[in-house]
Amino acid sequence: MSEPAVTERLFHETAAENSIRAAERLSDDAWAQLTEHPEKFRVLTGDRPTGALHLGHYFGSLQRRVEVQSRGVQTWLLLADYQALTDRAGSVDLQDSITDIVLDYIAVGIDVQSDRGLAFRHSQVPELNQLMLPFLSLVSVSEIERNPTVKSEIETLGSGHVTGLMFNYPVHQAADILFCHGNLVPGGRDQLPHVEITRKIARTFNKTYSPRRRYFQEPVLLFGEAPMLLGTDGKKMGKSARNAIFIRDDEATTAAVLKKAVTDSDPHIAYDPVNRPTVANLLLLGALAAGTTPEAVADEIGSGGSARLKAYVTEAVNEHFRPIRARRAELAADPEIVKSVLDRGNEIARETARRTLREVHELMHL
Ligand code: TRP
Repeated sequence: MSEPAVTERLFHETAAENSIRAAERLSDDAWAQLTEHPEKFRVLTGDRPTGALHLGHYFGSLQRRVEVQSRGVQTWLLLADYQALTDRAGSVDLQDSITDIVLDYIAVGIDVQSDRGLAFRHSQVPELNQLMLPFLSLVSVSEIERNPTVKSEIETLGSGHVTGLMFNYPVHQAADILFCHGNLVPGGRDQLPHVEITRKIARTFNKTYSPRRRYFQEPVLLFGEAPMLLGTDGKKMGKSARNAIFIRDDEATTAAVLKKAVTDSDPHIAYDPVNRPTVANLLLLGALAAGTTPEAVADEIGSGGSARLKAYVTEAVNEHFRPIRARRAELAADPEIVKSVLDRGNEIARETARRTLREVHELMHL
């Protein structure tokens, strides 16, 4: 593909910045509103079951989900098993991953066992998946092609390896959100293009098939100030890479992973994310776990070098996760818990999807 002309590129960059700014405004408005009127919102967000959840997930999104739910917003969590097919990390077992993630949810304090929330699986809710067909009629191929997240995935894989399911997953994700009239999607920036396609689908559907009554609400991506936590090798923390600390890890495993963490040779510890990214990342992790700032941790370590830094981080992480891990171990001992969470979640999701699909069919005169 040829390089776009400079002016065209500038135009696209400016458009992208404007759309991020607009999305941030929507997110801020939603934060303000949900404090006063939590009953007007429903969170729908999900995870690909490609392994247990790690500390990047915890500090990056799970903590925020707990906070939003604690303000009274009903929270629906999706185990996106169909989406996991698009990037199945070789050896991971889907069932084990799903069990792990549900245990992680409950252990960190997300309520998926009452009116406040639930968890369900894509594959167990056929009417949700069926909703993808009418939605596919509302977007063009070029709109999907422009989706930056899909674009970079195509670049990584090569288009010959991109399946139809993968190409269309943003539309599937729109069905995930709209089937239950979810209007609040906590997530990172990479999810913004998907939420924008969802908004477009909702808007086009309403305009075409329900002009007098807005049938679908346009959902809002709820940004957080979540800092980006890297793996212990300084690269993206991955579910399968050995650079991650998992919520479910025990204290000895946590210590072993941190012991092998990459640092630099300067014994004076200072917070300098640009020039010393691996040290900065450990300081950030220690600070998040201890509830302080990376600068304060650096001051405390001073010239103690990376050995003291690692000891500090290990202690802080293990202390933070001690009650969470204890709760998780208790839950894991009873296999009925996860089963009953999913049976209930799948059933409620299915009833809801059935009803939405029926209403969509009626509005479309199908
Ligand atoms: N795309 C999300 C991820 O990769 C997972 C996901 C699937 C999701 N469906 C969703 C997130 C609906 C928010 C809303 O992590």
